[in-house]
Amino acid sequence: SFEQSLRPQTLKQYIGQETVKDNLSIFIQAAKGRNESLDHVLLYGPPGLGKTTLATVIANEMDVNVKMTSGPAIERPGDLAAVVSSLEPGDVLFIDEIHRLNRSIEEVLYPAMEDFCLDIVVGKGPSAKSIRLDLPPFTLIGATTRAGSLSAPLRDRFGVPLRLEYYGEKPLKEIVTRSANLFDVVIDEGAAMEIAKRSRGTPRIANRLLRRVRDYAQVRGNGSITSEIANEALEMLQVDSHGLDHIDHKLLLGMIERFRGGPVGIDTIAASIGEESITIEDVYEPYLLQIGFLQRTPRGRIATQLAYDHFGFPAPETVN
Ligand code: ADE
Repeated sequence: SFEQSLRPQTLKQYIGQETVKDNLSIFIQAAKGRNESLDHVLLYGPPGLGKTTLATVIANEMDVNVKMTSGPAIERPGDLAAVVSSLEPGDVLFIDEIHRLNRSIEEVLYPAMEDFCLDIVVGKGPSAKSIRLDLPPFTLIGATTRAGSLSAPLRDRFGVPLRLEYYGEKPLKEIVTRSANLFDVVIDEGAAMEIAKRSRGTPRIANRLLRRVRDYAQVRGNGSITSEIANEALEMLQVDSHGLDHIDHKLLLGMIERFRGGPVGIDTIAASIGEESITIEDVYEPYLLQIGFLQRTPRGRIATQLAYDHFGFPAPETVN
């Protein structure tokens, strides 16, 4: 599919995250040189930065298969046993949203990670017994938006913890240009930059905006994405100059207009705008913190001067 073909297959094709790539490249070469499986990898950071993509790239570079699952999908120890016992030596097991694994599964995962074996209980009551299954060596790649939500023992079992960062405008522009080429669509530099600027440091958003701008270019223009077409399309999509969308606006304007810019607790803001606290914390807030529109303090969140400026509000009254 298109979605699949946009994904880079190798570290060389993967744009941005230079520190992560430099580290991985060494560990992959070393493991291959020793004919060993790669040590377990924890990928953490905000959504949309390419954790799943990177897991497929790692598997590809290691010349192994990847099995994909997620924390919430593994409900019982048997679910985990089923997936790990289907692995071939060196394979990658990718567990997305690994912070959502329940604790009883974590216990089964520890010996699987550390000693490549599974202790499972068969039977019930007095005749129940524990049997040990040997597993092939494998690489667990865990992905999470909240490394802080992993239990310490689980976190400590990843030999390679890697934090993905928001992308700068330059790598995002490269990603947009690469994707447009894969779509066989002509895009000018200004248009690629405009999409990059409004993508909140996030390739997933950049590719989504590119698709919508491509639609607009096809219907309103001749198919080519010029700067003018891109600007018109982005305006129609109501993505502002910083890439903030309707929900970011609700969040920030809610804080400014109803709470005098804060400090205000996350649950209070969430309730007042009808969103879930966890969605605000994981999806919206990280980027607003990154661009300095929001600050976290022990007494709650604060909308900063930059946020006031962005919406054309006068400075908040300071209470000192
Ligand atoms: N598409 C999405 N993320 C990408 C990345 N980091 N490099 C290349 N293409 C991508």
